[in-house]
Amino acid sequence: MSQPISVIILGATGSVGRTAADVLSELGPDKARVDGLVAHRQVDALWALGRKLGARWVGVTDPEAGRRLFDREGGGRPAVLVGWEAIVAQGIGEAPPGTKVVGAITGFAGLWPTLRALERGLDVLLANKETLVAAGELVTATARRSGSRLVPVDSEHSALLQCLGLAQPFRRLILTCSGGPFRGWSRKALERVTPAMALAHPNWRMGPKITVDSATLMNKGLEVIEAHWLFGVPYDQIAVVIHPQSIVHSMVEFVDGAVMAQLGWPDMRLPVQVALSWPERWPLEGPSLDLVGRQLTFEAVDEGTFPALSLARQAGEAGGLYPAALNAANEEAVAAFLDGRLGFLAMEGVVRAVLDRPWPTGPVETLEQVVAVDAEARAVARAAMARWEAGTPPVG
Ligand SMILES: NC(=O)c1ccc[n+]([C@@H]2O[C@H](COP(=O)([O-])OP(=O)(O)OC[C@H]3O[C@@H](n4cnc5c(N)ncnc54)[C@H](OP(=O)(O)O)[C@@H]3O)[C@@H](O)[C@H]2O)c1
Repeated sequence: MSQPISVIILGATGSVGRTAADVLSELGPDKARVDGLVAHRQVDALWALGRKLGARWVGVTDPEAGRRLFDREGGGRPAVLVGWEAIVAQGIGEAPPGTKVVGAITGFAGLWPTLRALERGLDVLLANKETLVAAGELVTATARRSGSRLVPVDSEHSALLQCLGLAQPFRRLILTCSGGPFRGWSRKALERVTPAMALAHPNWRMGPKITVDSATLMNKGLEVIEAHWLFGVPYDQIAVVIHPQSIVHSMVEFVDGAVMAQLGWPDMRLPVQVALSWPERWPLEGPSLDLVGRQLTFEAVDEGTFPALSLARQAGEAGGLYPAALNAANEEAVAAFLDGRLGFLAMEGVVRAVLDRPWPTGPVETLEQVVAVDAEARAVARAAMARWEAGTPPVG
């Protein structure tokens, strides 16, 4: 029997992180062992998970929350690491060779640890799409240099990976998109959308940021940029089609016109396990997909009503640090919307205001370049929102 794999989960207390923990628990210690688990503030949930999975260490990125856990549990097992420096040095740095790192943190905060893990030569199983949007060039170059693999966990990109299989020549990648909770709505109706309405996704249970992104279709825009970097494909070869049932997770059109799709229930356990086992396949319990009597439908994206997808495409095509600026603006806008400080349609206004600025389009070779643009774009976004609070209408 082969050796069990060793796994670290960054963002272990989130939606993807907990799914990964469940998959690892199901696989059992003969197949997979948990080296470390990282969370931001939910220390009780993290500690319970660390004990249950027999982790070597748990890491808390928020220093105050981390010190609380350390005061209570420090000195025992799992070891408690407080702050990113300790997590990277003693956690990721001392993980057994070949450890796989599940990147399930939400947002730009996932970039730095992802880069450190790749630099150490560890494979990263990436759900955290913002990392690839903000710094795809830097992240993929880092992986190439160290020989680590970047394996997608996002269900659409996992589907593409599974369809591509032997890397046969293809014409197009076709990402499917549920359309979110407001598919078919008018702009007028969207004006009344509240955070509670946006947080009710029809097919997937996910963290708040990605759920709001799915409602605006910005999520699909981020995924187009993610696909560009993961599969090295020009933007004009990445299509998006609405598929409300979320059964077809994405498709590849090969050079001879054949189209292959990956189908399954909307359940993140599969893409997580595929990433862990890839290129092997391991058994996973669950109901078989029964298509009898089920309608699978496809329609074009209404980009007039949901412009976030084309804003993301424009940023991707502009290249350089435009996607980093887009990502920062979107993170600020989503946070403000969830806080009740910004309307649903005003989120796209924030992104537009930031993309209207000139951003560098040259090569992106250092983390410092990305961090500087991320900070500047957030400042531009906040200034735009402050102006609008003072009375200027936000919707362009
Ligand atoms: N959910 C899905 O089904 C799904 C599917 C595909 C891709 N994704 C992508 O996967 C990523 C995670 O999504 P999610 O839905 O699992 O998010 P989530 O439920 O909000 O969980 C986020 C996780 O990241 C941690 N975290 C948040 N802010 C952090 C920070 N500043 N520093 C360090 N850790 C931080 C959280 O820790 P605390 O709990 O301690 O705050 C939590 O463990 C996102 O990039 C999303 O786009 C998600």
